[in-house]
Amino acid sequence: MDRIRIRGGNKLSGVIDISGAKNAALPLMIVPLLTPETVTLHNVPRLVDAQRLQRILQNHGVDITTAGKRVGQLSAAGETLKISAKTITDTTAPYELVSKMRASFWVLGPLIARMGEAKVSLPGGCAIGTRPVDMHIQAFEKLGAECVIEQGYVLAKAKGGLKGGHISFAKVSVGATHAAVMAAVLAKGDTTIENAAMEPEITDVAECLVKMGAKIEGIGTRTLNITGVTSLHGTEHTVVADRIEAGTYAMAVGMAGGDVTLRGARADTLDDVILTMRRAGLDVTSTNEGMRIKRNGTGILPVDVTTDPYPGFPTDLQAQFMGLMTMAKGKSHIRETIFENRFMHVQELVRLGADIHLHGDMAEVRGVAKLTGADVMATDLRASVSLVIAALAAEGETMLHRVYHLDRGFEDLEGKLSAVGADVSRIAGA
Ligand code: EPZ
Repeated sequence: MDRIRIRGGNKLSGVIDISGAKNAALPLMIVPLLTPETVTLHNVPRLVDAQRLQRILQNHGVDITTAGKRVGQLSAAGETLKISAKTITDTTAPYELVSKMRASFWVLGPLIARMGEAKVSLPGGCAIGTRPVDMHIQAFEKLGAECVIEQGYVLAKAKGGLKGGHISFAKVSVGATHAAVMAAVLAKGDTTIENAAMEPEITDVAECLVKMGAKIEGIGTRTLNITGVTSLHGTEHTVVADRIEAGTYAMAVGMAGGDVTLRGARADTLDDVILTMRRAGLDVTSTNEGMRIKRNGTGILPVDVTTDPYPGFPTDLQAQFMGLMTMAKGKSHIRETIFENRFMHVQELVRLGADIHLHGDMAEVRGVAKLTGADVMATDLRASVSLVIAALAAEGETMLHRVYHLDRGFEDLEGKLSAVGADVSRIAGA
């Protein structure tokens, strides 16, 4: 298995190109199941999860072609995918595929909406939590689908098609909101979705659906009103910049010191994160190229954070921010309210010399003056990159094992960090 070697101590300076958002690209690749026409997606990040999802879509009979880069196109520009679900040949998403990439469970909504039936494996839990999908199923049932769970699969039927309904989520869920929207756009009649997620990726998918002919009001708010249409047509859409990747590299600069422009970053999708980073002593400015991050001289200041659904502090940046706080001048408290087990990075950060104590859903981080490189293990996608952030400021060499977690969500991390002066390289594994 590949490993990544980081030698700490280098300041970062230059430009990092931000890729298209993984958590927008994945649902946007599923949206074409709703139409027989071609949907062209630009700026799709080159990630393992995106490649896995292509395999799952092909299993349903979807045709996907990847267009190369045009002459003069920015090297960092993502891939262009042309996705055509002209006919759907199979409405089953098997366990061996869904279990490898849980977002593929989201094919359920479009399959019911378009085909009137679907058999999709339950995605199962993962390192950060049990990841239930009960609210997805409740949403489909509110739209008239009959859902039963048998031998680890959700069997859903909506003979005669889905009907508009009133969905009110008990808690904010990104996946359940995607599920409800993708089903409601082709349902007969009107649907109201209350307590909807408002993440920028939800907005990006909704905007793409509107370009395909869907009727959605309230995009970007907690309440969505959808008027079903009989069919959707193809379109072209560019995946929104990845706010989690941008926040991650901003914290890397905060940790290592330096002056870096995150080209293509959308500061307007990171309000709470930018405020938090400024309170931690980072100089964050929005430019016409994206965002500029500097940490000049002054130390890192301790800041308390509680994760929250958007527009609050994102759970997907919690581990990275903890990495930054390990060398703050004082004590910080980080509360994780979204997932029940998202502190797997704590023990690995402690191996680097961090001083962190867990109290239920809260981590108390006592800043230390020095971290020391060590062998550490990636446990899940975002935890792995929090170790990279800490290693950038650690004395000596850190070897990060099980790098496949990192490859799921960060395109060419070692290339992007090396280009701005970090001593980071990938050691091909046995
Ligand atoms: C999406 O996961 C993201 N994944 C996650 O990013 C992200 O952490 C999460 O949203 C929260 O922002 C993608 O977009 C592909 P949820 P999702 O439904 O949809 C509970 C990453 O690192 N819940 O918003 O699975 C759930 O247990 C990944 O890129 C139910 O109880 O998350 C959790 O406590 C990790 N029942 C809370 O809601 C349900 O039916 C929020 O989960 C659904 C969710």
